[in-house]
Amino acid sequence: MKVTFLGHASLSIETNGKHIIVDPFITANELAKDIDINTLEADYILITHAHQDHILDVEAIAKRTGAKVVSNYEIVNYFGEKGIDGHPLNHGGSWEFDFGKVTYTNAVHTSSFPDGSYGGQPGGFIIANDDATIYIAGDTALTMDMKLIPMRHDLDLAILPIGDNFTMGVEDAIIAADFLECTNILGYHYDTFGYIKIDHDAAVRKFIDAHRDLHLLKIGETLEIKK
Ligand code: NI
Ligand code: MN
Repeated sequence: MKVTFLGHASLSIETNGKHIIVDPFITANELAKDIDINTLEADYILITHAHQDHILDVEAIAKRTGAKVVSNYEIVNYFGEKGIDGHPLNHGGSWEFDFGKVTYTNAVHTSSFPDGSYGGQPGGFIIANDDATIYIAGDTALTMDMKLIPMRHDLDLAILPIGDNFTMGVEDAIIAADFLECTNILGYHYDTFGYIKIDHDAAVRKFIDAHRDLHLLKIGETLEIKK
């Protein structure tokens, strides 16, 4: 499973011959100016919640590629009204897609669309297949619900927000890694706006002190995940 960081909370995942885009917010992210959304391949677009910094480029990518949106019921309906195909999930539910099994997990956050309309409850995703099992937390606080995940899933990677202010920060992400029983962490949702700028070296050092690996990828850089 190849996980490419596209800046902010945006990811591109390649697994079992399919391309999955997660939370595309690229064209308004100055830090991601080298990523051209018109060259991204997508069979699916996973959306954790309805905030602008997670859905901005969904419509453009979905309409160009014909990708199917996978998210909560309200978000799938919202894009359905724009003629975009989707698969609705709700918290705790899983579905076997042609690339692997996806579970919509709990997150503690909010989820309105930029126009103020209701975006359902926010979530995250577990993607599990023969390649690897990964957890994408979405925007969330540290939550006790994370302790449920390793009861069913042996995570090879956890992708956690570390920017603080709108989500958990580094210290809570270290506790989340503990709850998730996962040593391999990819940090995201940092540096994009003034509120969430972080000291990279300090963050990596804190994870090392806690015997965890924090990956901070350059935008466009890929991490290969194996079981
Ligand atoms: Ni958000
Ligand atoms: Mn966000």
